[in-house]
Amino acid sequence: MCGIVGYIGNKKATDVLVDGLSKLEYRGYDSAGVAVFDEEEIKVRKYKGRMAVLEEHLKEEDLKGTIGIGHTRWATHGEPSDRNSHPHTNVSGSIALIHNGIIENYMKLKEWLIETNGDHFKSETDSEVIAHLIDYYYKGDLLDAVYKAIEKMEGAYAIGVICKDEPDKIVAVRKDSPLIVGLGENENFIASDIPALLKYTRDMYLIENDEVVLLTKEGVIIFNELRQEVKRDVFKVTWNAEAAEKEGYEHFMMKEINEQPKGIHDTLHRRLDKDDHIVLDGIQLTKEDLDKINKVYIVACGTAYNAGLVGKYAIEKFAKIPVDVEVASEFRYKEPFIDDKTLFIAVSQSGETLDTLAALREAKRKGARVLSVVNVVGSSVSRESDDVFYTWAGPEIAVASTKAYTTQLVSMYLIALHMATTKGSLEEAEYKKIITELKSMPDKVQKILDDTKNIQQIADENFNHENAFYIGRGIDVNVAYEGSLKLKEISYIHSEAIAAGELKHGTIALIEEGRMVVALATQDRLYQKMLSNIQEVRARGAYVIAVAKEGNKEIEKVADKVIYIPDTMDELTPILSVVPLQIFSYYIAVARGCDVDKPKNLAKSVTVE
Ligand code: F6R
Repeated sequence: MCGIVGYIGNKKATDVLVDGLSKLEYRGYDSAGVAVFDEEEIKVRKYKGRMAVLEEHLKEEDLKGTIGIGHTRWATHGEPSDRNSHPHTNVSGSIALIHNGIIENYMKLKEWLIETNGDHFKSETDSEVIAHLIDYYYKGDLLDAVYKAIEKMEGAYAIGVICKDEPDKIVAVRKDSPLIVGLGENENFIASDIPALLKYTRDMYLIENDEVVLLTKEGVIIFNELRQEVKRDVFKVTWNAEAAEKEGYEHFMMKEINEQPKGIHDTLHRRLDKDDHIVLDGIQLTKEDLDKINKVYIVACGTAYNAGLVGKYAIEKFAKIPVDVEVASEFRYKEPFIDDKTLFIAVSQSGETLDTLAALREAKRKGARVLSVVNVVGSSVSRESDDVFYTWAGPEIAVASTKAYTTQLVSMYLIALHMATTKGSLEEAEYKKIITELKSMPDKVQKILDDTKNIQQIADENFNHENAFYIGRGIDVNVAYEGSLKLKEISYIHSEAIAAGELKHGTIALIEEGRMVVALATQDRLYQKMLSNIQEVRARGAYVIAVAKEGNKEIEKVADKVIYIPDTMDELTPILSVVPLQIFSYYIAVARGCDVDKPKNLAKSVTVE
């Protein structure tokens, strides 16, 4: 979703803003703009389209100002256009504002402002209302005006404001939308996310909800909602800027697919001691804690939800505790059976997904203990959870999630195995077998990555389909969901995943000559059943691409193409079988000329409902 960057210091602000915004492109956007205090006035430049359009325009003039704010917009209220893009200003242009989030009561505020001051609105956005509201309260003190404005605002927002009459400051606010502050020497920054600032500093303040920040060149003061100053420890970012660069890969997605062996290795080994026992470092899952739990709820969105489905399988299988999995946007408006005997597990790469965050808060309100599986350290989900199990995927930039998914799988397996051994529902020998196999996963994933020619060739021969079906049985169907999501989101091919046994209850009506069906057949226990399902679709003309364990020659007789994964135990196949599906989707999208890292209409961090 929208990205925000702000700078105050001695450098040319447009350089810092453009650079920072380009690092936030992955969040998804359709327009970009900056406002800079230059030659005693605020100059706003904003355009529909990619960052390159803004950069071209900025090349035409030399804005020398050293204080400014910048924004990439992902349209919610009003179409993508120059006038709807940010920054927005008050009528005189003396106040400029950037906003990420949604102002829920903007219609009411807009009507009131029109009644009071007349209709001076230039855009259809909810955000412009904030600029007019701050102007309404402005009496020579920007900080005070911002405080008064946010009292009237409902919804989610991270905002950054500059004012011509106080050109030595930026005021920023966070409520339910991410905001960080970067600390430099005689310069300070704001941004939606860490990669935007890594070129300049690794010292950050993670801003909390309802906090207001006053930035000058010399310093940063954080205030709470009562206008009291609060102290914050400096958060030191340990990963470097290169981790968020493409490093020779054409796309972040392919780079991140290739980083999976490392992500899996790191996630696993950070949680294993020298005897291969799981170390949870204080995460409250002791025998006493588990004895109090009679149910687990896993809640997440998209790919993280798909990882949660595998988590359910693993927890139920190994730990014998009943698990419900729910998409966060549904969970919020249901009446889930949750109480203090429930362990609520939120899964989120970004840790900023608003639906997941809201579900987590709801679960907490009902008394559940919250454990989150999160990739971004210090994110909202991690901060609001009782315990956090970090995945060690490193920064994921491509919109389509790949390494986050496999590291989430590893985390879910570790949580399940820990629960099982603590409860005594899994024999030590069985545990050792599974851990040994888990430890072989980085090498097995690497083996798939070392030879992707077959997958690329199948993709090149099949990129022109407009429909696809993914089928599987048992744990395979969960991977089918993820494979199908990957294909549709980056290649725009309509795709549907379904339990293979369900086909005959409706969906098989859509199977016709040449229809692409990706069939996961990795489960030894269900293999014969799956073979029958493949034959059913083949008999109706389907073109079948099967994913099977190496050594299975029989499947070549029924499938048009076979992609092999290294042999492993049935329970752990998702970590391997998803990898060729990611690669397959990638090459299909490339062949179709799609913008792989930034698919249309999508955003990396979904901070609106
Ligand atoms: C798909 C994808 C999304 C995210 C979903 C949740 O490739 O990336 O479906 O998985 O938006 O995001 P997080 O994990 O950040 O909560």
